[in-house]
Amino acid sequence: MKIDYQETTNDLLARIDIHKKFGSRDIDEWMLHVLMPQKGSKILDVGCGAGKQCFLFYKALEGEADITGGDVNQELLEKARLENARIGNRIKFIDLDFNQRFPSSDNEFDLTTSCFAIYYSEDIPFTISEMHRVCKPGGRLFTTGPMPENKKLFYDIIREATQKPIPPMPGSSRYSSLIYNSIQSLFSSAEVHIFENPLTFEQVDPFLAYTRASLSEDRRLWKNLFEDAGGFERVMQAIQNVAEQRLLRDGKLVMTKVVGGFLATK
Ligand SMILES: C[S@@+](CC[C@H](N)C(=O)[O-])C[C@H]1O[C@@H](n2cnc3c(N)ncnc32)[C@H](O)[C@@H]1O
Repeated sequence: MKIDYQETTNDLLARIDIHKKFGSRDIDEWMLHVLMPQKGSKILDVGCGAGKQCFLFYKALEGEADITGGDVNQELLEKARLENARIGNRIKFIDLDFNQRFPSSDNEFDLTTSCFAIYYSEDIPFTISEMHRVCKPGGRLFTTGPMPENKKLFYDIIREATQKPIPPMPGSSRYSSLIYNSIQSLFSSAEVHIFENPLTFEQVDPFLAYTRASLSEDRRLWKNLFEDAGGFERVMQAIQNVAEQRLLRDGKLVMTKVVGGFLATK
């Protein structure tokens, strides 16, 4: 399945910032708790973006790990490389398209990760098989992505504002089914860990900023919804009206992120 999507740097960084400011839990702490990465490990992060997880591992392991991040987005890789220069280029950031064979040998990594990225793969079993191929025997794979109940309030408000069904999202419609099944069928064991993070908005503006960073015109997945419902700005105005009514009624908007962490062993 070809996914007509390209993350933009500003949208990704805006969402990361809003999670930090309005969320009550820290996904980085949760990830480290689930993963317990070990010093001396060789780690590959696939779809690394601006390097969030690579820098997390680097800090947690006090630099004592061989970490590579790969992505197709040059703008995000550039951000990652700038930050990397600040720490003495201790991480490798490489061009890696997860729809192609990875530029890595068989059995190379102790840990292969992909956070909020794997569901943009055009061929999920192929991408998972590449992550499996480059993983050492006994090595681990870890992915994060949205479970079906993720961000219910966000979708409820958009549905009410547009009076249209939400198009199937490549993440939440496939992550806990096709993607988990592909992991289970290749790896010798797999387990699911759930992270729930309620984001609480007491004003409408940060919720709208989050919505824009998720729905902006660059995210072509939503194109049909905008066309049917009268264009992006009209949809945003309708979303604002519904969000304001709900805020008035409930006193706050609570949007819960429900993330699945899939941890598998080769
Ligand atoms: C939501 S971002 C997550 C980035 C990062 N892991 C984080 O959590 O901040 C999704 C990432 O997947 C990357 N991506 C999309 N298609 C890709 C492909 N074919 N190969 C590698 N990365 C891809 C995007 O460029 C983007 O960096």
